[in-house]
Amino acid sequence: MTERFTKAAARNIFYGGSLFFFATFVALTALSHNYIVNTGTDEKTLSDAVTRGKHVWEKNSCINCHTLLGEGAYFAPELGNVWLRYGGDKDPESAVLALKGWMAAQPSGIEGRRQMPQFNLTDAEVEDLAAFLEWTSRINTQNWPPKLSG
Ligand code: HEC
Repeated sequence: MTERFTKAAARNIFYGGSLFFFATFVALTALSHNYIVNTGTDEKTLSDAVTRGKHVWEKNSCINCHTLLGEGAYFAPELGNVWLRYGGDKDPESAVLALKGWMAAQPSGIEGRRQMPQFNLTDAEVEDLAAFLEWTSRINTQNWPPKLSG
């Protein structure tokens, strides 16, 4: 270092650097927030049914066995794309019926298969759950999971 690198210069680099990176941090935070609110979240189709369905999902702790978009427990299948597995994007009515049928038929009692409890949900609750799973299935996960079964 030359003698030109003074205490004042060091201080200026410190303050200048701090300010620059703080401003960058604020700008990136604003950018992320803007993306989450306007692009990442499909707010327009966030109906009351979707919200109620999420509450059914939470109240019954489906996440204790299932994953949703990869988060959760690994005992039972991923449900972020179960709506597509049930063909809901092509025939929503049949997918709701399939979900009702599935929920009503548990536990299957089939030997060698993992069992899912009976939750005794009402028809309205399962319809809300379907709305929630349908909404979730449209989240852009950049083609994850790679397999429909995953
Ligand atoms: C105690 C663990 C457990 C909990 C809690 C649980 N499940 Fe399951 N679930 C399972 C298992 C195990 C399977 C797979 C059973 C099979 O393949 O025979 C399954 C399968 C499913 C399937 C079919 C998936 C497919 O790919 O066909 C759906 C839909 C489902 N569960 C929905 C739910 C919902 C909604 C809740 C909450 C209300 C819930 N599950 C809570 C264990 C659980």
